[in-house]
Amino acid sequence: MEKMLELRAPAKINLGLEVIRRRPDGYHDINTIFAAVDLHDTIFLKSRPDNAIDCRVEGNDSLTSDRNNLCVRAAEALRNATGCRRGLDIALHKRIPMGAGLGGGSSDAAAVLKGAATLWGIDPGDRVLHELAAGIGSDVPFFLGAPLAIAVSRGEELRALDMNLPHAILLINPGIHVATPWAYGAVNRGSGRSASDLTTILQRGLVSPDLLAGQLVNDFEPAVFAEYPLLRMLKERLYEAGALFALMSGSGSTMFGLFQRMEDALHAATNFPGCWHAVTRFAARRE
Ligand code: C5P
Repeated sequence: MEKMLELRAPAKINLGLEVIRRRPDGYHDINTIFAAVDLHDTIFLKSRPDNAIDCRVEGNDSLTSDRNNLCVRAAEALRNATGCRRGLDIALHKRIPMGAGLGGGSSDAAAVLKGAATLWGIDPGDRVLHELAAGIGSDVPFFLGAPLAIAVSRGEELRALDMNLPHAILLINPGIHVATPWAYGAVNRGSGRSASDLTTILQRGLVSPDLLAGQLVNDFEPAVFAEYPLLRMLKERLYEAGALFALMSGSGSTMFGLFQRMEDALHAATNFPGCWHAVTRFAARRE
């Protein structure tokens, strides 16, 4: 029987996102905490008798072939780096909204990198996998490692954080698509800013969540809110609905709220008719 792998590709949120400076290579140095959550896409991988790489997508009509190609690009990058010529069938069940600041496409790509290596019986090593991931996108390497990490440089330099975050998370997305390159340009970080100690801010915030608002910022918010005022309203509504802390994830447009308990988050979700929403938790640390 042909072996089949079932993989979970989690979404992430950014607990703070500072755009530090524009770099000569056109990217920006950032300072952020990536946190994986339980909301996930599911990917089935099967090797093929020929050497084709095929990707089918279910569950998200708005998924463009361009995005779905991140999975194909991951498999091709792995073959190019290792000389492997095996084929692959990818079946992608989407739950994470696309282009929403939740890292769905990046997570799918990271899962295919790891899964295809397992399925094909090749071990390119952690360093090569990391390089391949960074070549696909700045936040792909995060999805290869620990579920909570500080990320600097363009997002690919990671340090795992050994913390348990107990909160329930409400994710709200009104279906607005924010183009990431536009958002970086709109921050207009000609001269640099200093980087905060996000780990300490988060540790203090675990004890007193009130401290988080004001200290844990997303530098994209002012420019993105100016363009899409609805997003500022959604953030305010998250606080009105009882969130301990609310922020935009990535360059948007998903807004998230942290709540003490699951039932608080579920109840708050009723305040956002017409928006996509999900109630989830932070992904557990791998032992
Ligand atoms: O790395 P990725 O392909 O996801 O980045 C998409 C775009 O976002 C880049 O072309 C760049 O314009 C912008 N970007 C950036 N600095 C980063 C990450 C992304 O300027 N750290």
